[in-house]
Amino acid sequence: MSTTTSPTATFPIPFKTTRSQAARVLAERESILANPGFGKHFTDHMVSIDWTVEQGWHDAQVLPYGPLQLDPAASVLHYAQEIFEGLKAYRHADGSIWTFRPEANGERMQRSARRLALPELPTDLFVESLKQLLAVDADWVPSAPETSLYIRPFMIANESFLGVRSAHRAAYYVIASPAGPYFAKGVAPVSIWLSTDYARAAKGGTGAAKCGGNYAASLLPQQEAYENGCAQVLFLDPQEGKYLEELGGMNVFLVMKDGTLVTPELSGSILEGVTRASIIQLARDRGHEVQERKVAIDEWRDGVASGQVVEAFACGTAAVVTPIAALKGKGFVAGDESAPAGKLTMALRQELTDIQYGRVADRHNWLTRLA
Ligand code: COI
Repeated sequence: MSTTTSPTATFPIPFKTTRSQAARVLAERESILANPGFGKHFTDHMVSIDWTVEQGWHDAQVLPYGPLQLDPAASVLHYAQEIFEGLKAYRHADGSIWTFRPEANGERMQRSARRLALPELPTDLFVESLKQLLAVDADWVPSAPETSLYIRPFMIANESFLGVRSAHRAAYYVIASPAGPYFAKGVAPVSIWLSTDYARAAKGGTGAAKCGGNYAASLLPQQEAYENGCAQVLFLDPQEGKYLEELGGMNVFLVMKDGTLVTPELSGSILEGVTRASIIQLARDRGHEVQERKVAIDEWRDGVASGQVVEAFACGTAAVVTPIAALKGKGFVAGDESAPAGKLTMALRQELTDIQYGRVADRHNWLTRLA
């Protein structure tokens, strides 16, 4: 029996909403929204949709945020059958709430599901689940500059079975967390640590999927990065250990002296970032050449020394666009750790966030209204 497709994945399916009796009062919510940090506080509700081989997607609910009940034998706890997404809700000046390219996240979640042998959630249902959550938790979207509501959809295999095989039972959830900047220092330039002892992904592995296991594997090298004063770790390709892949939780770009942007090609082992794709588009719109190709680590290191590489930045939903001041590794520092943010980096960041916050026209039709 096929277990990775949903036999009755019809949309729409009805949502049942149960309001929380323990929703935070205005003063408590406002104090959280005034200083949200990243990923520390959660809204009053969450979405849950169940899936079984027999029934497909069913029992869609918005319910009070709270602990999940999992059988200790649930496959996710043993074999890490888990995938997730990350996107944001932005409050515009008129109070309306919008999200950015949600179909791209929904489609990526389907690709992740295929790789992790989980059921594919229809994209319409993915987008509807965000709307349903925001219908009750809209007040949790902050309005201060550069703040947003970070939305975390995720899916787990929750069948009680210790045999190793694809899921016959799964659940999809959406939680949300008011967010300020991902890095503690805000939008300030960060240093990056080159990991040479560890790879993030293998050829044919799960590197292109957004699954928890990839992030678990990045934590030890990420620790090494922190110990060396760096905010993120950079991984090289798993075969030759020579080409840039991605950072612990974001994609990477270099800006060359002639204005060309260079970013690692989608090798099959790096994540197809929605922010990455958007930056490529915005840079091309400005007339910059953008090369998606193999980028050797020496090209970065030597390019900084020769003046060929003039800027570098990380990008992702959480990181938005974060300038990179220096690349560090065992025995070397390329760049100046106290260098200011690059001009093009900040211009692209500004343009992207202007679109997301409705400050300029959405010329690519990237925004979807949530509330
Ligand atoms: C995101 O940018 O949404 C991510 O999923 C990265 C995560 C490690 C915070």
